[in-house]
Amino acid sequence: MHKSLAAGLLCLTALGSVHADDLGKKAFEQCIACHSLKAGENGVGPTLHGLLGSTAGMVEGFRFSGPMKRSGIVWDEKNLAEFLRNPQAVVPNTRMPFSGMSDEAALKALVGYLAAATK
Ligand code: HEC
Repeated sequence: MHKSLAAGLLCLTALGSVHADDLGKKAFEQCIACHSLKAGENGVGPTLHGLLGSTAGMVEGFRFSGPMKRSGIVWDEKNLAEFLRNPQAVVPNTRMPFSGMSDEAALKALVGYLAAATK
């Protein structure tokens, strides 16, 4: 009886993580009109390929705003979450026309999704 309970809990945990991935992927739908995950594919916004660990405003072939280029941010999960929560607060006058995410669960899932999907 204990064994089946443990199996049931494991199963729930697995479902939980699948759900988080789905939530992240779904949240990325807010970005996809402007951002690709493919290397070299810039649109209204720069490709996000290779984002984590890169310096802000450096994607080749994309014209960034002065504030983004001068921000000196090296993207990690923490500052990415802060930026997506409120872009203008982190990079004042950024040209990214996105007002920010207020749903913390979706934001966390999105950052996790991007950490894997932008590699
Ligand atoms: C309407 C278009 C648009 C939407 C929607 C948008 N972005 Fe952007 N994004 C931009 C633009 C334009 C820039 C360049 C900003 C600048 O140069 O100031 C940018 C810049 C960025 C950067 C900095 C990239 C770098 O290499 O420094 C990140 C990270 C980013 N966006 C992530 C996202 C995510 C994640 C979403 C979805 C939640 C999103 N953006 C939604 C247009 C958009």
